Amino acid sequence: MAKHPELLAKYPNVEVLPSNGQVRCLFASIRNSETSRRKFVFDSDRLITMLVEAALAKLPYKERTVKTPMGLEYVGAEFCSKLVGVPIVRAGESMEKALSNIIQEVRIGKILIQRDEETALPVLIYEKMPRDIANRHVLLLDPMLATGGSAMAAVKVLLDHGVKEDHIIFVNLISCPEGIDAFCGAFPQIRVVTGEIDDCLDERKYICPGIGDFGDRYFGTD
Ligand code: PRP
Ligand code: URA
Ligand code: MG
Repeated sequence: MAKHPELLAKYPNVEVLPSNGQVRCLFASIRNSETSRRKFVFDSDRLITMLVEAALAKLPYKERTVKTPMGLEYVGAEFCSKLVGVPIVRAGESMEKALSNIIQEVRIGKILIQRDEETALPVLIYEKMPRDIANRHVLLLDPMLATGGSAMAAVKVLLDHGVKEDHIIFVNLISCPEGIDAFCGAFPQIRVVTGEIDDCLDERKYICPGIGDFGDRYFGTD
């Protein structure tokens, strides 16, 4: 059974990546403190690709009929909305490549938010969005949802730009109950795709059992 069933029942917009042997191997690899940086990046990239694919499946599609080389009709679908990816810099930039590999020439906005190391409160430093972002669906990208402060500050920026709350999908690798409660309580219409929901936060507001500092491990600044 999925972990935290009561949390998932409370927030139907939260979807956890379906677990299987492969997904569990990848999470064991990236959570292991002995894993080399090269393998950490490679295995994180694989999981992030799965998460981005799961998020893209939530976007609106319309029916599309094509003719096959057999001269027969096939009824499939085509994507019918404009999209923008918005990573919360810096750790969120690790997710940009997976999105760009799947949707070529996808628009990318940027929000630079750093968590104050003493208070764990988010500090918004910079943001730049496509001019027509209000008419787009947004994949908000950040691998870590701890207190939820950074993701909520990023959503406020998007709403200030006129993005509709139900046009935002937050794509996230590791979350925890505190972060989901804060984020989904504040923005109940935003869909969340997360890789795994961990147990809790420690006194420094790090996710437990967690992964440590994702950005430091991914970019080699630890
Ligand atoms: C990390 C992470 C999130 C945030 C999560 O970024 O990538 O943005 O902390 O914590 P919260 O939910 O309590 O806000 P950090 O500010 O450490 O910067 P980094 O991207 O440079 O690692
Ligand atoms: N940021 C991280 O990288 N890891 C955590 O556990 C919390 C915030
Ligand atoms: Mg960090």
